Amino acid sequence: MLAERMSRVSASPTLKVLVEAERMRKRGIDVVEFGAGEPDFDTPAHIKAAATTAIEQGFTKYTPAAGTAELKQAICDHYAGLYGINSKPSEVIVTAGGKQALYNVAMTLYGRGHEVITHVPGWPTITEQVKLADAEPVLVRTYPDDGFAIGADVFLHALTPATKAIVINSPCNPTGALMPEREMERLVEEIENQGIWIILDLCYEQLIYERVPHNLPRLLFERMRERTILTGSASKSYAMTGWRCGWAMGPDEVIAACNALQSHSTSNVTSISQKAALAALTGPQAAVGEMLGEYRRRRDHLHAWLTEDPRIQCVKPGGAFYLFVDVSALLAPDGIATSAEFAQALLDEAHVALTAGEAFEAPGFLRISYATSMERLREGVNRIQAFVSKLDAAGKTPAPTRV
Ligand SMILES: Cc1ncc(COP(=O)(O)O)c(C=O)c1O
Repeated sequence: MLAERMSRVSASPTLKVLVEAERMRKRGIDVVEFGAGEPDFDTPAHIKAAATTAIEQGFTKYTPAAGTAELKQAICDHYAGLYGINSKPSEVIVTAGGKQALYNVAMTLYGRGHEVITHVPGWPTITEQVKLADAEPVLVRTYPDDGFAIGADVFLHALTPATKAIVINSPCNPTGALMPEREMERLVEEIENQGIWIILDLCYEQLIYERVPHNLPRLLFERMRERTILTGSASKSYAMTGWRCGWAMGPDEVIAACNALQSHSTSNVTSISQKAALAALTGPQAAVGEMLGEYRRRRDHLHAWLTEDPRIQCVKPGGAFYLFVDVSALLAPDGIATSAEFAQALLDEAHVALTAGEAFEAPGFLRISYATSMERLREGVNRIQAFVSKLDAAGKTPAPTRV
């Protein structure tokens, strides 16, 4: 009944958790929500005010499919400020979130016979979009031993004559890891003359905790601008997930193709959201730093609480707002055998919603989003700890080895 391409994709597993948790909540169950990949903060007031003004002033009609001229210019200016790169509005398209930016790029660049390399643990949408575009995803792995750092070698080892593109997400969902500049330099060194594209997903670009060199866009623009696409979003930096506003920046030809595609699918991002995103990018930026400070505080507490149990290992993330927790030492063949089972049991029995590592090609792990209040984080950790002690008492986990 359905088109063949649909047999190659599945619904977003990260959204599935939200749906299930919501169903329980509707039944009156107090669910601690660690599944959501979205800020718990409200959209800053000046951004909401810009949207209200847009409505009041009747800015409620179609805009150009690729976005308003003023917003595209603001995106260029924003990236000039963040990275020192120069771009022009014809190199920008405004999209329904970073997700549509990546989707447009997948549809306009990849096709049958192409291989597209990306790193896992990683955001599942990237892989699914490659499949939707009839191309072959090639998944390369990063490891917890070095904090899941995204290095050049994994990509270089996976290159073949069919490689069309490399998609890099830094900071990464779910690991919070970054790609160091020197690694991007090494990668570019090898591939700059091979006709391979780099697509850099910068969705969490303003959520980096330490001052580390992360000017990957500038490096790419200097060395291989004609094969570079940057995608970004207002969603995470400005607590604007529901507004659906992101962007792609790249060579004119690709952006024009994305525009053609978008003009026959969704057309423009909601005019009101575009005004809001304009206010986000051009208005006061204090809220971004405040939210980052709060995420840092939560990250540190959550990490300390969870690692009280020596069987729970997790790297402190350098960016984004997820802790990617290794629970493999708590799994037992005659008890809870997989992280997917662990996540399901946690939801059913402890009413804590989180995402199993299987969703990110990383069995044995759980992703905890700390985009929720400190109180809820403490409550959720209490529940997880109680859940694990019950398993211990029932002999369903391997015994802890204290050092
Ligand atoms: C790695 C990554 N890229 C892109 C996105 C897209 O977000 P949005 O479409 O809300 O901009 C997300 C959202 O969770 C993400 O985690």
